[in-house]
Parts: sequence; structure tokens; C-alpha cells
Amino acid sequence: MNIREDVSLKQYNTFGIAAKAKFFAEVSSLADAHEICSDKQFSKTDKLILGGGSNILFTKDFDGLVIKNNFKGIEVDGDNDEYVFVKAGAGENWHSFVLHCIEHNYAGVENLSLIPGNVGASPMQNIGAYGVEIKDVFHELEAFEIATSELVRFSSADCNFGYRESVFKNKYRNQFIITSVTFRLNKTPKFNISYGAIEHELQKMGVKELSIAAISKAVCNIRSSKLPDPKQIGNAGSFFKNPVVSYELHEKIKKEFPNVIAYPSGSEIKLAAGWLIEQCGWKGYRKNDFGVHINQALVLVNYGGASGDELYNLSQEVMDSVQKKFGVSLEREVNIV
Ligand code: FAD
Ligand code: EPU
Repeated sequence: MNIREDVSLKQYNTFGIAAKAKFFAEVSSLADAHEICSDKQFSKTDKLILGGGSNILFTKDFDGLVIKNNFKGIEVDGDNDEYVFVKAGAGENWHSFVLHCIEHNYAGVENLSLIPGNVGASPMQNIGAYGVEIKDVFHELEAFEIATSELVRFSSADCNFGYRESVFKNKYRNQFIITSVTFRLNKTPKFNISYGAIEHELQKMGVKELSIAAISKAVCNIRSSKLPDPKQIGNAGSFFKNPVVSYELHEKIKKEFPNVIAYPSGSEIKLAAGWLIEQCGWKGYRKNDFGVHINQALVLVNYGGASGDELYNLSQEVMDSVQKKFGVSLEREVNIV
């Protein structure tokens, strides 16, 4: 296997940060994973697993081994009257996988169209958009344990999914290389257009008969109008999670800010972080090459030459101002290295 040294990561992260990796290897088979993880040279070296680099901020060079996941392949792994089980390699591009499902009429992931990155990272933070999360269609995954070189199977319960959370984001971070994910998809679609903007977009598109292809197109249109394309402006999507607060705190905020945007979330309330950040005056903020996106205050951006540190410090300033104005603690969604 080709192990490169002092590799620039600029093209491997959608923020476009020019950090370097001391060592860099691409793994595309279990044999590759075994070879690199049992190499004595790297037994004490820090390891970082990388997919498409669309949810990561490098604040410094990585003085260890980056393992770029390149497992490929999409196959049907069984079915029954209701479901088809589709297994995808972790290195498959997520949106290409969604398009593959739509083409074969496997329903369930169409609302998750156009999310950047790879299949292997999708369970990592239980990706979600437009009313659907990975956990709703997840069957199981396989992951290679770095310490033992064993292939371990995780059920949905094992992954402990939450809002933008799983065991892989916390307890098992960088301990398992997810190699494949199997999804449980519907043979007969159950359309989910609960997110108001989808219905509106479908009307605008003049769609008479609902289909998973139409929903996917509507979601792509909405996303393209709101979110910056990383090919044009460096970013990693929402930089923060939408905060979940107590009913009491929401009531308190509402008294002073009646327009606060909030949604019920179990016994608590989820606030729109983009709105909170915008109210603090950050939307469209720019200094040198770093800033807050002009259309979506939840997205921090790199106009070209920003460093990871500048973006990290900006995120801290944003968090401090939201805390001061609303008494709400924001949490970063992006993985900081
Ligand atoms: P990376 O950025 O490469 O990795 C993310 C984390 O997962 C890292 O900690 C990494 O170590 C770990 N990881 C990656 N692959 C593996 C693996 N095979 N095994 C173990 N660990 C692994 N996210 C949403 O949920 N919803 C959205 O709507 C959404 N919109 C976005 C829009 C834009 C414009 C952008 C840039 C990002 C958006 N994101 C969204 C965030 C991002 O696309 C997702 O988090 C995506 O799943 C990241 O995939 P990746 O392959 O790029 O992961
Ligand atoms: N809003 C503002 N100002 C802003 C941004 C948003 O007032 O600058 C308001 C909007 O008007 C809207 C509300 O906030 O009323 C929510 O905004 P939006 O629908 O754009 O969604 P979001 O909460 O900002 C979340 C996810 C996205 C996901 C969309 C669609 C998180 C952290 N983000 O964004 O995921 O695509 O919903 O489901 O949950 C990501 O994780 O990277 C990501 C992009």
C-alpha cells in the first residue's frame, strides 16, 4: 500500500484548509485496513479516518496517520415483501448512492439528497435533513476495529443514534473504520413532505404526481438556493447544532424575542441556531477570508485563504455572543481536529 508523507489536505476537506498530514494512506479493502493497522511503525501513531472531508475543520497539521476510506460497491443484500436491504461501501459518494436508490425505486433516502460526503460518515453523525435522519432507514453497519483488526457488526441500537450523534462521534471516535452501511429501504414509497418547504417547492415545480425522484429534485432545489456550494466557497454545512432547551428557557426568550424560531423536540424545545446567530448580527460578517454566510448564519465560510484557527476563533465568538444575548449554549456540529 502506498503511504505518503507530508500530504496537503486542502483538496480533502470542503473548508479548503491547507493543513498537512504527516502520513496519508487510502484503504479500499479489509486487507488494506489490516495491513495499515497492524503495521508496527504506526502502532502508537494517532489515526484519523477521513471520508469526503465535508464535516471537519483542521485547526493544525495532523501529526499522525490519515486513513482515507475508499471502500466501494453497492449491492442488494436481501429483501422481503416490504423492504429491500441495500449495502453500500463506506467510500461511495452519498449523493450518488441516493441517486442509485432513486433509479432503482428504493425509497427512504430521497429527502437526504445532495448532502456532501460519503456513505461511511452518514451514521457517524446520523445525518439528517428535511424530516428524515439516517436512523430511520438504517439496518446495520460493518466496522473494522483498529486495535483488534476485527470486523464488528453494529445494529441501530448499538450505534445509539441521536440528533447529529452516534457512538462513533463520541465513545468510539477514530477507533473503528466503518467499511459498509446497510440500509432498509421501502419497496413502496412512504412519501415524507412534512417539511413545509418541500411541498411549496413541489408546487412551484408543477409536480402533479408525487414520486421519490420529484422529492429528491425539490430537496436539491431548496438546498442549492440556501447553502453555499463548497466548490465555490469553503464550508462544512451547519457549523453548530440547533440547540435543544427547556420549555422554561424558551418561554423566557420568547418574552423578550417573540419571533424566536422554535420546534417541539420531545419534552424540550429546539431553537433555530441560524436565527439566534443572525439576531446577534453575524449574518454576512466577513473579516479577511473568513466569515458567516450571507444567506445562512449557521454556516461559517472560508473565502479562500482562511486558517482553521481563524474559523475556530470565529465560532467561539459566535457562541459567546449567543450565550450573552439569549443565555443559550451552542454546540459545534463540525468535527474539530
Ligand atoms: P468527513 O468530513 O470526512 O468525516 C466526518 C467525521 O466522520 C470525522 O470525524 C471522521 O473521522 C469520521 N468518519 C468519516 N468516515 C468514517 C468512517 N468510514 N468510519 C469512521 N469514521 C468516519 N450534514 C447533515 O447531517 N445534514 C445536512 O443537511 C448537511 N448539509 C451539508 C451541506 C454542506 C454544503 C456541507 C459542506 C456539509 C453538510 N453536512 C450535512 C455535513 C456533512 O455533509 C455530513 O456530516 C457528512 O456525512 C460528512 O461526510 P464525509 O464523508 O465528508 O465525512
Ligand atoms: N434562519 C434564520 N436565519 C438564518 C438561517 C436560518 O432566521 O441565517 C431560520 C430559517 O428562516 C428557518 C429556520 O431558521 O425558519 C431553520 O432554517 P433551515 O430550514 O435553513 O434549517 P437549519 O435549522 O438552519 C437544519 C440542519 C441542516 C439541514 C436543514 C434542513 C442542523 C444543525 N442543520 O438547518 O443540516 O439541511 O435543517 O433539514 O440541524 C448540516 O447538518 O450541516 C445541515 C446543513
